[in-house]
Amino acid sequence: MSQSAPSIGIDFGTTNSSIALATPSGVQLLRFADDRVSSRSILYLEKSKRGILSSSGPTAIEHYLAAHRDGDHPGRLIQSLKSYLTSRTLTGTEVFGRHYQLEELISRILMDLRQRAEEQFGIPVRHATVGRPVRFVGAETDADDNFAVERLRAAFLRSGFTSVDFEFEPVGAAFSFQHRETQFDDETILIGDFGGGTSDFSVLKLSRNGQRQVLGTSGLPFAGDAFDARIVRKLVSPALGSESVQRGGKGIPAVPAWIYANLERWHYLSFLRTRNVLDILTTAQKRAMEPEKIASLQAIVDEDLGYQLHQAVQRTKTALSRHDSADFIFAGPDAGSVELRTAVTRTDFELWIASELTQIATAVDSLLAATSLAPSAIARVFLTGGTSFVPAVRAIFEARFPNRVVTGDEFTSVAQGLALAHQ
Ligand SMILES: Nc1ncnc2c1ncn2[C@@H]1O[C@H](COP(=O)(O)OP(=O)(O)OP(=O)(O)O)[C@@H](O)[C@H]1O
Ligand SMILES: [Mg+2]
Repeated sequence: MSQSAPSIGIDFGTTNSSIALATPSGVQLLRFADDRVSSRSILYLEKSKRGILSSSGPTAIEHYLAAHRDGDHPGRLIQSLKSYLTSRTLTGTEVFGRHYQLEELISRILMDLRQRAEEQFGIPVRHATVGRPVRFVGAETDADDNFAVERLRAAFLRSGFTSVDFEFEPVGAAFSFQHRETQFDDETILIGDFGGGTSDFSVLKLSRNGQRQVLGTSGLPFAGDAFDARIVRKLVSPALGSESVQRGGKGIPAVPAWIYANLERWHYLSFLRTRNVLDILTTAQKRAMEPEKIASLQAIVDEDLGYQLHQAVQRTKTALSRHDSADFIFAGPDAGSVELRTAVTRTDFELWIASELTQIATAVDSLLAATSLAPSAIARVFLTGGTSFVPAVRAIFEARFPNRVVTGDEFTSVAQGLALAHQ
């Protein structure tokens, strides 16, 4: 692409998406409602007189909550679609009796983003550099990653793009870091990009004259979503009876464990709203030592409060990034339906995610070993992505690279760097 042509970078994230435009005069970010620079990668399908309508981002959430408030049977709110790209068994999902392919669902989000970008940037948006994780969620081999990339490409082509180039997300973040730093030597840097679905790393050699060389990349198929799942398992599910037993002293669980497993992925919760599950919960309450906890679970399932529950989990997690302790507070929209309040400390949370933290530390050490670099050879570390706010994640890097860790542009560095990459 020529030096003067505008270049678009798209970070279609598991949780949030952002778009940047690079021109010779600088980088511009696509704006969303309330002047936000990223938009939730979320889709809502609802039934209307004109057929099935879709909306994405904040509009999707608004429509969903409005239907909920009005007591209408809400449509389907779908998120973390990127995490399913490697699955060969999950080709799509059935909504209102129609089968939607995963590529089609993703393309509806991308179509909205593309149109918004065309309106705001005032140029046709037909080509873009698109981020991809080093390792997609669920990928065990390179073939799985390639399969996911081709599905993502198909979704882009379906949404009106004529071509897309893929670039590793942490490499995109590195370009953005190189662009924003004014004081720059020839140096080797390490990037850690911690999102909702994946944790990605890259080591690059950057030169003062703007050149860069990727020395190595690696990735883990989990990030913030996995931390949320831990909070559900250790805090939310026990408050809803996961450790409760039946009366009679034999230690038999009051509610089968598979029901709680569905709580850990909040968008599965709506699948629990079946006669069978509601019958199980009604019977369980009669037999349980702590029937009030099961009654709360039943209310959450019956009122389809998965989204609201997940938001409460996110609020607790975010509060624990700033404070040593926080309250998990969840109240159903209807007065008197369900109310949960539990205190949690950052130390508890760090114990719950200990295995993920160890895997992150090991991945960093292995990447250094693979690139034959000692920690002292890394001049600076750039951490980005929403999950890089978690103090225990930052601590892994502070311990290895003291006083060399820089953070920033958590939700936009990848898109900015992707736009700059092929300019
Ligand atoms: N202050 C915070 N403390 C802890 N976690 C946070 C904070 N802010 C956001 N997060 C988490 O960051 C994640 C989203 O980050 P980000 O937008 O970078 O991900 P993404 O790019 O959509 O995902 P991916 O890169 O995996 O595809 C979510 O799990 C969110 O809960
Ligand atoms: Mg990301």
